Amino acid sequence: MLKTKRYTITAALPYTNGPLHIGHLAGVYIPADIYARYQRNAGNDVAFICGSDEHGVAIKMKAKEESKSPKEIIDRYDKIIRDSFKNFNISFDNYSRTSLKIHHETAQEFFINLNKKNVFIEKETEQLYDIEAKEFLADRFIVGTCPICRNEEAYGDQCEDCGSSLSSLDLINPKSKLSGSKPILKNTKHWYLPLNKYENFITKWIIDGHKNDWKPNVYGQVKSWIDNGLQPRAVTRDLDWGIPVPVQENKNKVLYVWFDAPIGYISSTKEWAKKNNKDWEIYWKDEKTELIHFIGKDNIVFHCIIFPSMLKASGDYILPTNVPANEFLNLEGKKISTSKNWAVWLHEYLEDFPEQEDVLRYVLTANSPELKDNDFTWKDFQSRNNNELVAIYGNFVNRVIVLINKYYQGVIPKAESLSKYDVIVLNEIHSIPEKIGKSVEKFRFRDALKELINIARIGNKYLADEEPWKLIKTSPNRVATILNTSIQVVGILAYLSEPFLPQTSLKLQKLLRIELFDWDILRNKSILKEGHIINQQELLFKKIEDKEIERQIDKLKKNQSE
Ligand code: MF3
Ligand code: ZN
Repeated sequence: MLKTKRYTITAALPYTNGPLHIGHLAGVYIPADIYARYQRNAGNDVAFICGSDEHGVAIKMKAKEESKSPKEIIDRYDKIIRDSFKNFNISFDNYSRTSLKIHHETAQEFFINLNKKNVFIEKETEQLYDIEAKEFLADRFIVGTCPICRNEEAYGDQCEDCGSSLSSLDLINPKSKLSGSKPILKNTKHWYLPLNKYENFITKWIIDGHKNDWKPNVYGQVKSWIDNGLQPRAVTRDLDWGIPVPVQENKNKVLYVWFDAPIGYISSTKEWAKKNNKDWEIYWKDEKTELIHFIGKDNIVFHCIIFPSMLKASGDYILPTNVPANEFLNLEGKKISTSKNWAVWLHEYLEDFPEQEDVLRYVLTANSPELKDNDFTWKDFQSRNNNELVAIYGNFVNRVIVLINKYYQGVIPKAESLSKYDVIVLNEIHSIPEKIGKSVEKFRFRDALKELINIARIGNKYLADEEPWKLIKTSPNRVATILNTSIQVVGILAYLSEPFLPQTSLKLQKLLRIELFDWDILRNKSILKEGHIINQQELLFKKIEDKEIERQIDKLKKNQSE
């Protein structure tokens, strides 16, 4: 029997202040979904966890911009985001919301526990305050000049031009976004997580312990944080939107969104466990559980330093085995930007390319920003669809299904004696599941996908070399063998496509009249037995015309000039 492992797989909780675009999918959710599906298929116990990140200043800002309540904003985007995940077949076991009671309670308990253990430092500091609006100003509500690159539009927490993280007090000429006035300094008390005390722990655990098995982009970022020295970080904020700080004296203070959001993974797991009569704790506290966080590169410090320090401080939690963060995806050579509307929105993609979710999954995986930033272009999208999915994958499958229906009324013919070439093809094909597995285990999804398309490429070449349609009169036995061999290749494609192209895999399963339940079958030489009856052909992919691509490019340009 296969020994099953337990995986808690998390994908960064998206902020509910806007819809999702291709960058989100490429950076986080597609790789996480491939990994989760792969681990399930391998017979492992998987909890694939996500949810909406509904607190923080970004939500409040959005509400302010639209003169809506934060609650209206999160409800709207939670729904849009959920629909996108569903439409792209992201197979979360649970998708929760941080605005739910179960999360508020879990986050507050987490805080109370750390507070009891005297983990926090309590400090009075001076913070920027808007006297006109009578509110303390969150970093994002302050704009000013970046002390590093002189960008005049830097936010209080970060300069988006040079990427430096800032403190609002560093800004030159700070201005309140609420009233436009110049903020004053006022005293306020906050709870700090003394990250400096966790430097040794992070050094031992990541710098010494994960040099070789973590991605170099992730390792490098952690190392530079540690080299620069860690400072205590406030885990509370003066804000009226969020989870109230659970202490008696609290006056309008909430947990910092980056304190509560990662705890959302835990509350989402709890919610799932409750619904399914499972024990949530083994997914977070059993040493044998592999905890994997899928995130984008801007989330590295939170998942590799801050959240692990919180978990460590609280005592009985496991730490992530790996944090396979991706770099960023650009669009047509430029950084994706929500504010400049330079993006491909998932819900709009599906309006323009209905039922073609797998095409986008394919292109975003093939072009995934795994180790460095990468570029999405519509031309590349078109050529990958037309030259790879249509011309190789779809064409191969279609030819095999058509021929078996034409010559044998859909009944899989018997393979007579195999030729040398048949054996070579079958051996090569049967070596691919292991190659794909190894790549996926190492978070190399691009390589894994190349191996997948390679299956169809080998099959296509085999058919082109053997030309069974020319032999049907003269050597019917040979044709039977060729098509039996070919349908085995299609069968393997149906199985191995599942993590990458789930919709296509389903279509193939229907065409072949099989269900993918027994992955051990991949070890057999014959996946589809002679005499098994398959269905009539149905097109898997369709060609994308130049004018469809031009339309997309025009749309982008138009958005830009508006
Ligand atoms: N909402 C954050 C972002 O989009 C990610 C939160 S991840 C979590 O960058 F760990 F905090 F949940
Ligand atoms: Zn700057």
